[in-house]
Amino acid sequence: MTDVSTQPVTLASLQQMKAQGEKIACLTCYDSSFTRVLEGAGVEVFIIGDSLGMVLKGYESTVPVTVADMIYHAADVARVGQSALRVVDMPFMSYASPDQALGNAARLMGEGGGHMVKLEGGADKAAVVERLVAHSIPVCGHIGLLPQSVHQLGGYKVQGRDEAGARALLEDARALEEAGAGLLVMECVPAGLATRISAAVGIPTIGIGAGPGCDGQVLVLYDMLGITPGRRPRFVRDFLRDSGSVAAAIEAYVAAVKDGSFPAAEHTY
Ligand code: KIV
Repeated sequence: MTDVSTQPVTLASLQQMKAQGEKIACLTCYDSSFTRVLEGAGVEVFIIGDSLGMVLKGYESTVPVTVADMIYHAADVARVGQSALRVVDMPFMSYASPDQALGNAARLMGEGGGHMVKLEGGADKAAVVERLVAHSIPVCGHIGLLPQSVHQLGGYKVQGRDEAGARALLEDARALEEAGAGLLVMECVPAGLATRISAAVGIPTIGIGAGPGCDGQVLVLYDMLGITPGRRPRFVRDFLRDSGSVAAAIEAYVAAVKDGSFPAAEHTY
């Protein structure tokens, strides 16, 4: 097993990693057993993602996930978590206004043990981000493909491919940083654009289907273990296939993120 630090990861340490060009290893995590395995392998950031609705609960999208679902799983992770920074997703329609967002984010932190909340959207969510940050709730933005908007987008599609779309994403990233976001997830964004955005903002960026130019990488845990049924998205690599155990697969993922071999060209848009 890798020799890993048990020092708690903080936003300041992630900021330092960005400054030093050290890649950030992030995975989704939803329970206590995986929390131990992932921390043992050196994963620095956990996203307790609303993807749990699809990979744990069998929903067709993340839309039916509730605040109670998120608290249940975030608390499972927090009960045994020691080192990783825990980012908890705000589910669909739990942050439609700054007031509603504040009440729900307080529960995700207080009852769910989150260190930070994540919400989908760009400049349109600046007022929500400002309100949370003003109440000492760290916020991670999420731009590009927004899974909670799948019914509006008409499917899971790469975003920012044309000039106008790319400009809008860059403006969204800047607006989120200005509103006080401390971290930024970019999902299904062309690699060149994600690299530009990572250079344009001071906060660390975490990519999923956004190429190797982001400051860190995240995958849905069950996707990278090859146990999600159906067609595998282009940006996913099955790390379990060539590893002898789940722990070895997670270690291989961390090593590949750190040395820049994941994501490779075949995983990017
Ligand atoms: O819900 C989730 O798992 C996420 C990741 C894809 C970043 O938001």
